[in-house]
Amino acid sequence: MNRITVNFRESRGTINPNIYGHFAEHIGGVFYDGLWVGEDSRVENVRGFRKALVDSFKKLNPPVLRWPGGCFAETYDWRDGIGPRAQRPRRVNWWYYCDGRVEPNEVGTHEFMDFCRMTGAAPYVAANMTSTTPLHIRDWVEYCNFPAGTTTLADERARNGSPEPFDVRLWGIGNENWGGGGQMTPEMCAREFIRYTTVMRSLGTKPLRFIMCGANGHDVEWTRRLMREWSARRWHEVETYGVSIHYYTNQGSKADPLNFTEDEWYDQLLRAAFMQQVIDDHRAAMDEFDPDRRIKLIVDEWGCWHRDGTGPSKGYNLFEQQSTMRDALVAALTLNIFNNRCDVVDMANVAQLCNNLHSLYLAGGEHFVETPNYHVFDLFKGHQGARQLCLHMDVPMLAREGFRPMPRISASASEKDGVLTLTLGNLDMTASQEVRLAGLYGSIAGSAQVSVLSADRPTACNTFEEPFAVVPHTSDLQLEEGAVLTLPAASVTLVRVQLARS
Ligand code: AHR
Repeated sequence: MNRITVNFRESRGTINPNIYGHFAEHIGGVFYDGLWVGEDSRVENVRGFRKALVDSFKKLNPPVLRWPGGCFAETYDWRDGIGPRAQRPRRVNWWYYCDGRVEPNEVGTHEFMDFCRMTGAAPYVAANMTSTTPLHIRDWVEYCNFPAGTTTLADERARNGSPEPFDVRLWGIGNENWGGGGQMTPEMCAREFIRYTTVMRSLGTKPLRFIMCGANGHDVEWTRRLMREWSARRWHEVETYGVSIHYYTNQGSKADPLNFTEDEWYDQLLRAAFMQQVIDDHRAAMDEFDPDRRIKLIVDEWGCWHRDGTGPSKGYNLFEQQSTMRDALVAALTLNIFNNRCDVVDMANVAQLCNNLHSLYLAGGEHFVETPNYHVFDLFKGHQGARQLCLHMDVPMLAREGFRPMPRISASASEKDGVLTLTLGNLDMTASQEVRLAGLYGSIAGSAQVSVLSADRPTACNTFEEPFAVVPHTSDLQLEEGAVLTLPAASVTLVRVQLARS
């Protein structure tokens, strides 16, 4: 029998809500006919944004939303997206070479900030470090953050509809500068980052959080070289908030998200489980130059990357793909890793919100559906801002020929205001698992809600025709010390307990 014991005295700290962050890029169908339908659309909308999506997203308590890219950021001129919408230019954009679609700039800074305000997410803006100037980005910061009446740019913002500053604190400088962001060396990237942030330091407004673009996947040497160059500069003392990495669970461009074998199920989950190694190794490389951990590690893109063309637009929307229970398990496994490494990961942003990789939503015209990934974020939201609790796991390994063994259950726990949140993923594709739960230095007993996300088959997904094929089912029960739960095969379970002692 699997046993999981919650240690109420051992914790790695508080789970930063920003670990539950999101990402929306101007690519394919993320915005146009995804989040954004336009004010004149027949689709119900709130100032142009799809109302069903706004209502659903709000329920997740989204802490932060990264925008406008991704790669898109590296050829984006923010001035294209302000002023009267009808007069904004249509532009070739970073992704044009892939899908031939031009950017209409209907969504720009004001629309994005409006979406953030209506959903409660803090804006995290990714600034172009490849094809513009530090001064131009400094102007964007000034445009967003200065009070009306102080500068010409602040007054222009007010004239464009927002007298109140947007107060954007999180600024990513560059995106994937090892690749689509200018093919830089780590040394060059660090120096460009210093050049940009030095110019922006002169703004002297409220503290800004600048994030330096870090490595791809497990390329730890890139991080080491970046940090070495960054730490050699005198100015590094101030205003570098974090270093970002991207890690996708990628089985190659042919991988089919809807039809997979048992081996492909385990292969995908093992790649997701590797996230722990990725973040630990990057942090260790950063520690060589920043032993006090003043600079945070941020995973500002993560998720499954399958073959595109399996979403409702049938290939029209670049990178759009369906999500099954396998993707839900990747989300649960990854979020459990982030919770258990809350002392290492400060922020993470799942890629991407709608009609793209590992999306929470699929939409088009009047149609809108929440994917299994959405439900995982909903089940896990109680961890946000809670105190992580360490778990003692007596869980056998899943051994399969040709694969590294991994525990067959993924889990994390936290406590906030006397409520215990325990999230469990049964990684076994075919067998249910019984698990005995107990507390150490405290009891897990109390009135509980148990919500289970599972389906009749691991390839199950939600479609426009069948939007509720994969939804969680919740039951109330009195949880006792030593209670045994059954986790269905390929499932995600939330146990939420109002602890009796509180
Ligand atoms: O999420 C899609 C793309 O993946 C992003 O634009 C880029 O940063 C990454 O390579």
